[in-house]
Amino acid sequence: LGFYTKELKALEKKNILRERKCFSDNSIDCASNDYMGISSNKDILKLAYEKILHSKDHSPKASMLINGYSKIHKEFEENLSLAHKFERCLSLGSGFLANIALIEALVRKGDRLFIDADFHASGIVASKLVRGIVSKFRHNDYLHLEEMLKKDTSHRKIIAIEGIYSMSGDLCKKEFFDIAIKYNCILIIDEAHSSGVVGKNCLGVMDLYDICPHKNYIKMGTLGKAYGSYGAYILANSEIISFLENRAKSVIYSTAISLFDIAFGHEAFLYIQQNSANIQKKIKSIQDMINQNLNIQKPALIFPIEIGDNKKTIDIQKALQKKSILVGAIRTPTVNKAIIRFTMNINNEKQTNNICLSIKEAINA
Ligand SMILES: Cc1ncc(COP(=O)(O)O)c(C=O)c1O
Repeated sequence: LGFYTKELKALEKKNILRERKCFSDNSIDCASNDYMGISSNKDILKLAYEKILHSKDHSPKASMLINGYSKIHKEFEENLSLAHKFERCLSLGSGFLANIALIEALVRKGDRLFIDADFHASGIVASKLVRGIVSKFRHNDYLHLEEMLKKDTSHRKIIAIEGIYSMSGDLCKKEFFDIAIKYNCILIIDEAHSSGVVGKNCLGVMDLYDICPHKNYIKMGTLGKAYGSYGAYILANSEIISFLENRAKSVIYSTAISLFDIAFGHEAFLYIQQNSANIQKKIKSIQDMINQNLNIQKPALIFPIEIGDNKKTIDIQKALQKKSILVGAIRTPTVNKAIIRFTMNINNEKQTNNICLSIKEAINA
């Protein structure tokens, strides 16, 4: 028996054993977070490649705090700050690292973190590293959060929410932004699934709700989803960014994000900005079709269907795979009840009705 055989067998028995697989290029992708189909956009690839080809170095070589910070990073950060109207931006290796950076560095001894119960695993892992107190509030329940805040006496109060929740596809409530100001809290908004997707200018939930940047707000976004690249960024005021440069271990002690990923993410960002009106039209049309066919109303491009049984969820996923449709089979403990999580890529707009029909058939089989 190997060191971990027993644990692996237990996972298998519960139908929650994970495996990596390579899927056929011909499948319809309703599983990834490539909402704009940018991961296969060769025009954007060429633009990014040209930029890197003309740069002296094509890799960062060191941490940003040594000499790994290049003009390619700086230009991206300046453009992003300008578009989002935040004072400064900091690019990082991934969204996972960004949440570790934010939560581990900002929640200090005597402080308290208030985190949504459904926050992404990266935030939950980060919350185990902090020296302050950690409290979870019920998912998207700002009244529960306010109840906690009223009784709280800690030094700094930091709230962590997502713009669009990765599994449920729920949109964060607008009231969180008001509460953060009312109780003078720092509000971290993880826009991994909302940046590039929601809002008139596809800039995320602050754009959607028409909320201006404020010293209490910190926006985190990723490049690995709508922007079809890899990496992440944090937008905040100068003081917060400076504090992260000095205290965030995943910034200081990690090689700067790859120049190619930043260059590609930057080109993808510009592409989405230039096409935002058309993108919003397509998203609305997809949402309407999904609502008509499956009676699911969601504000972005994540659509969960509760199945409640791990084994059945995998069976549905496999049945759809046979029809060349890839969906996510998200099981416990990632979610409380197993779901089929399907996502839409705007380039598959015309296939929406057929995708819905296949999903319906597979669920009812
Ligand atoms: C809400 C949320 N935050 C953070 C992350 C981590 O981002 P990355 O994949 O860039 O590490 C993810 C990715 O799954 C996510 O869904």
